[in-house]
Amino acid sequence: MQKQTLQNTDVHGKRVIVRVDFNVPMSNGKISDDNRIRAALPTIQHLRDNGARVILCSHFGRPNGIVEETSRLGPIAEGLGKVLGTPVIYAQECIGPIANSAVAALSPGEVLLLENVRFHPGEEQNEPAFAKALASLADLYVNDAFGTAHRAHASTAGITNYLPAVSGFLMQRELEMLSSVLDNPRRPLAAVMGGAKVSDKIAVLENLLGKIDKLIIGGGMVATFIKAMGAPVGDSLLEVERVSFAQEVITRCTHWTVELVLPQDVVVARDFSPDAPSQVVNAMEIPDGWRIMDIGPESAASFIEELETCKSVLWNGPMGVFEFPAFSHGTRLIGQTLAAMTDAVTIVGGGSTAEAVADLGLVDKMTHVSTGGGASLEFFEGKELPGIAALMDK
Ligand code: 3PG
Repeated sequence: MQKQTLQNTDVHGKRVIVRVDFNVPMSNGKISDDNRIRAALPTIQHLRDNGARVILCSHFGRPNGIVEETSRLGPIAEGLGKVLGTPVIYAQECIGPIANSAVAALSPGEVLLLENVRFHPGEEQNEPAFAKALASLADLYVNDAFGTAHRAHASTAGITNYLPAVSGFLMQRELEMLSSVLDNPRRPLAAVMGGAKVSDKIAVLENLLGKIDKLIIGGGMVATFIKAMGAPVGDSLLEVERVSFAQEVITRCTHWTVELVLPQDVVVARDFSPDAPSQVVNAMEIPDGWRIMDIGPESAASFIEELETCKSVLWNGPMGVFEFPAFSHGTRLIGQTLAAMTDAVTIVGGGSTAEAVADLGLVDKMTHVSTGGGASLEFFEGKELPGIAALMDK
């Protein structure tokens, strides 16, 4: 990585402010998936072991610059304390007197979690005064929030104007893993793309087409490709304005000798509901009044066959409506296939794909599951992420 990292940075006795992404799923006030918290542990533990005073800051939700009681970080401080095995001090403010005195009382090795930075409008506006106030709490800034690296906010970008800024271990691992498939992959390299809409994936496809050997497409976005081939899509979600892009992808794959693998059969349902009547049909013969909900068994078998010959796989987007068990088979089969490919590099883009892999209990079986949703997408689009650009160069 071309940015300075925590590895070679002296932290002993220093007050270190770490931007983490603890925007974790919660249900009934309890953390329902703590992967993002666990992923930040190596950085936190390293700082504690090396005698730093650890000041964590994060956003949670989108409270839009006002204090929202349900977006306070108290439950997260508690959850972090449990996985860390030591109490985490929680300050109900992230700047000002409450935050100042909490920091002043910190001993080396202790961990403090500041209140949600998005309670201040200055955070998302990247306001210098707010960035400066946060920076005044510390001697060093560490960015370990890959999930928020695509945002140019005060705690991800502005703060670096006032403190030496390095990446944490989670950030470092994300960048190494995600770049490894883009820059120097073991081949053949396949991209498995899914999800509801082509429009969400245009920039990713534009960036990946010149790098991959196979493109496997599933999920609701298949409808737009089927339309591009002149076949009916029934009631499936169709992005009419993206049909020409899908045609272009098909043409480019031929010219650039990228093997394009589309579903031969699909599971269609009468309506978008968990127990809707369903049937398997040829992907080129979707009847009127039916919509795509999953890839079919023949498609799954051919996707698996194609994947098993690959040495690197990048997966972004579920194969069907994974939230409904009746339409989760395609996504499950792809997840299980990648999990079993122990000789290959398997990288899972974040967001709903990461959730699916977590639900399937397969996180530890993949080479890497990104903690970033929007951030990993922008990374695969080839964009420079502001939270990374702002860190000190090596
Ligand atoms: C995420 O969950 O993708 C990150 O925490 C970023 O959240 P945001 O989209 O609200 O900026």
